[in-house]
Amino acid sequence: MMPEARVAPPLAPCDASRIALDLYSLEVTARSLPGEYDDNFHLLASDSREFVLKFMHPSREESFVDMQCRGLTHLALRAPHLALPRVIPTTDGQVFSRVKTQDGSSRLVWLLTFLPGMTLAEAKPHSRELLASVGSLLAEIDMALLDFSHPDATRELKWDVSRSLWARDYLSHVRDPQRRALAGRFLTLFETEALPRFPDLRRSVIYGDANDHNTLVSPPWPLPRRVLSVIDFGDLHVGFSVAEPAVAAAYAILGQERPLTAASALLSEYHKTFPLREEEIAAFFPMLCARLAVSVINSAHRRSLVPDDPYVTVSEAPAWQALERLAKIHPRLAHYTFRSACGLPAVPHEEKINHWLNTNSPAPVISANLGEGNCVVLDLSVGSTFLGADPSRFAEPVATAGLQSILRAANVTVAIGCYNEPRPFYSSQLFSSGENPTNERRTIHLGLDLFTASGTPIAAPFSATVHAFADNRSALDYGPVVILKHETTDGLAFFTLYGHLSRKSLESLHVGDPIARGQSFASIGEASENGGWPPHLHFQLILDLLDLSTDFQGVAYPFQRDVFTSLSPDPNLIVRIPGHCFPPATPDPDATLSMRKNLLGANLSVSYERPLNIVRGWRQYLYDENGRAYLDVYNNVPLVGHTHPRVVAAAQQQLALLNTNTRYLHDNILRYAERLTALLPLPLKVCYFLNSGSEANELALRLARTHTNREDIIVLEHAYHGHTSTLIDISPYKFNGAGGQGQKPWVHVAPIADDYRGRYRRGESDLGKKYASHVEQILCTMKRTGGGIAAYIAETLPSGAGQIVFPPNYLAEVYKHVRAAGAVCIADEVQIGFGRVGTHFWGFETQHVVPDIVVLGKPIGNAFPLAAVITTREIAASFNNGMEFFSTFGGNPVACAAGLAVLDVLRDENLQHNALNVGIRWLAQLRKLQNTHALIGDVRGSGLFLGIDLVNDRSTRAPATAQAAYVVNRLRERGILAGTDGPHHNVIKLRPPLIFSDSDADLFTATLEEILHEDSARRSPS
Ligand SMILES: Cc1ncc(COP(=O)(O)O)c(C=O)c1O
Repeated sequence: MMPEARVAPPLAPCDASRIALDLYSLEVTARSLPGEYDDNFHLLASDSREFVLKFMHPSREESFVDMQCRGLTHLALRAPHLALPRVIPTTDGQVFSRVKTQDGSSRLVWLLTFLPGMTLAEAKPHSRELLASVGSLLAEIDMALLDFSHPDATRELKWDVSRSLWARDYLSHVRDPQRRALAGRFLTLFETEALPRFPDLRRSVIYGDANDHNTLVSPPWPLPRRVLSVIDFGDLHVGFSVAEPAVAAAYAILGQERPLTAASALLSEYHKTFPLREEEIAAFFPMLCARLAVSVINSAHRRSLVPDDPYVTVSEAPAWQALERLAKIHPRLAHYTFRSACGLPAVPHEEKINHWLNTNSPAPVISANLGEGNCVVLDLSVGSTFLGADPSRFAEPVATAGLQSILRAANVTVAIGCYNEPRPFYSSQLFSSGENPTNERRTIHLGLDLFTASGTPIAAPFSATVHAFADNRSALDYGPVVILKHETTDGLAFFTLYGHLSRKSLESLHVGDPIARGQSFASIGEASENGGWPPHLHFQLILDLLDLSTDFQGVAYPFQRDVFTSLSPDPNLIVRIPGHCFPPATPDPDATLSMRKNLLGANLSVSYERPLNIVRGWRQYLYDENGRAYLDVYNNVPLVGHTHPRVVAAAQQQLALLNTNTRYLHDNILRYAERLTALLPLPLKVCYFLNSGSEANELALRLARTHTNREDIIVLEHAYHGHTSTLIDISPYKFNGAGGQGQKPWVHVAPIADDYRGRYRRGESDLGKKYASHVEQILCTMKRTGGGIAAYIAETLPSGAGQIVFPPNYLAEVYKHVRAAGAVCIADEVQIGFGRVGTHFWGFETQHVVPDIVVLGKPIGNAFPLAAVITTREIAASFNNGMEFFSTFGGNPVACAAGLAVLDVLRDENLQHNALNVGIRWLAQLRKLQNTHALIGDVRGSGLFLGIDLVNDRSTRAPATAQAAYVVNRLRERGILAGTDGPHHNVIKLRPPLIFSDSDADLFTATLEEILHEDSARRSPS
């Protein structure tokens, strides 16, 4: 079948305007729209209505236009809720008519309502929800078309997927031989996998052309984005029903790194409304691939006819890229994936094999009693406390030693590693989807591990032949591995895989050798030969090797878990360890969330639209239950990195010795107080230890009030100082926010010295002085009215207010006024102390002041609960008024041991210096991004305390709150954790552990930049 070419000279917009007036009495301005054969125009009527006027290709038959008009009218009746184009009749009631054009040719013309909307091709990104909604819309259209018929719907159409093999004759137009072979390969796949199924596939009238340029999607806001409509019903035809989602999926996967995931999103939703049969699902992948192959071959051919026609080549580059990606996927894996997406067992014969295994008796794979009490089941999951976070504990020889001590303690010879368990230790590049540490990794263990002595013989559970064997020598690979092939009584083949064998095992094996049930054919290898693991057998059941032989994976990506656990069912069907020996299944994220809602206070907030279940932390990474690593750019508490071994060891060792209260003498508290005060300027010499920032701020207020004998406090706008009653009263962020009780008479709020959004701005003179004058005014008013202020409390670089850096001289001026009024100055360093700002160890040093009371918390114990208040001897003396000060846990030996270790690590790893250097470079990168992205209004901060202020309008600085939430949620999807802050929640706050590196900053910036190109980051919701 020859693809058609445009033959008539194109019409001009003035022709369109004239016809609109003649036939439809519409006064319009017309604009040409792209089209492969026909001349289409966008019409804007004088009353602002919009239409599409279609001048059909001269060779078009009336019946063809009639079919479209009737089809659309049918859809408008059957599915009126769908926002599809509607046909507008001429003033004399015709749905289409014939006109003579100025060149003398005769053309059919008809008018449709214009549907506004961005095309799917233009939309960024293609979220799961968006693609799913495409599937759902198409299924609704196809359901509504089930009772539609038209003589022209059965016609020869080059885009009818069932006819895809026409493209074979045009393959030679693809010049590049590799690409030609690639396209040809997918036509062959269609021939071998789709064609034979034709008799079993249902036919119906389908829309048939859901390419990404015909699919209109909703605006970037509100989220989630959905499909609006499809346009161009010229390919309406009687075709295979499954071709509808297959064509749509062919375009939905363009640009997608995971084509099967994208196609599954669309297919699964289609299937919910238009349930597909197993044979139809089996034809889906070959059809999808064939459509792309036809598309690129068509483009190559059209280019030979019309070298510069942009319309035909529009999808070409992404289509080739998609074909290259598809070529790396085994068609049966695709088939299984799509079955799984439709709620079927991924592997069709899974149930039969499982039944056979359940009804046949296997010989033991190793000759050990694996019944209860004779083996231990290990927890090797991502959140295993046995493994801990430190990867050196998973590596040899430590791993073997740890395992042996478990076996000794349990007095058994075999330990079991579980099937379908997400694990943290598949750390080599072999298991990663990319170069970045946050790229998803294969973590789901597909076998059962039997840890026991090397040399232990392995026997075949059922009669078998040797299918394959190899020595996979890469680190953390299988090492020597054997695959046996078995057959069920019905002749169904399945395989068992034995990994981490001794090299000797392979010496006497030959492919095709028969192995009797119970015959020993291999033995367990040593760590030196088995890929670097403690001696064990990795035993895996495989229903389809996907032509991978000994490279069949033993560990799967979490996103492929359903498919791979069907391909490799539980090997305990063969090993038969009692089920109750295994831990109960972990609740899924939805169950965890609903338990949380049920058991915990509902106003305990949770981060991100898709909350994270974090089970492990190591250095600057947090890991979810599936082992996905997230770069932690948010948490300032793990100052020296999550689970730093020195801090962990210090706390663990002290906890194993003693933890008690401060009514006994103990060296730790004194050593710690000595170290802390040495880091603080005079006269800050007296320490009080507590357990949280809130407790510490609470105590700071008591100190100030006792010392001054006054009650009133000056605070800054938007400040947050803690969750106790008094601290809520001095936190405008809370008392002015939802559920807040308003300002108490003893609280005085001064403007935040924010030189970006505040009342005095960057570029003005004496900003510090101007902002400080407001504090002075409060003090004067109080004095005039006979009252007095006890304290001025402020973060020295306010975080809650939006990562603010005070203008120079601000605190110096404020402190001068405060002290002159007999009040004290409290510096809340809970967020930024301990070197975070890079230039200085403490935030107050950046302002060249010394507070009277310093409050420390959060990072002080690197996540061990600890906080401190440090003050002058004078204030401490006032506080010593007869009332005992006591905090049961404050300053306990374990907390102080942790605090001491943190100070050691900060010094030994030179982390303040790192914060400075990485911060300077990162800030510059982000400011560069600001030059090209209008959304970024300001980038500010110091060291590893940075804020990116997102705005909808740089001149008004209108906060881009919705976009900030969008960016943060997208970063989370991409494996980066950040948060928002500020009164408008539009400031992306960056406060990573101080071990954050240049490459971490690069990854953040590059990812942010990609997200800033997405539609919802570029458009405002209003
Ligand atoms: C500046 C500041 N001060 C005090 C606190 C209270 O600390 P905690 O939550 O440890 O009680 C916080 C907590 O976010 C804070 O940000």
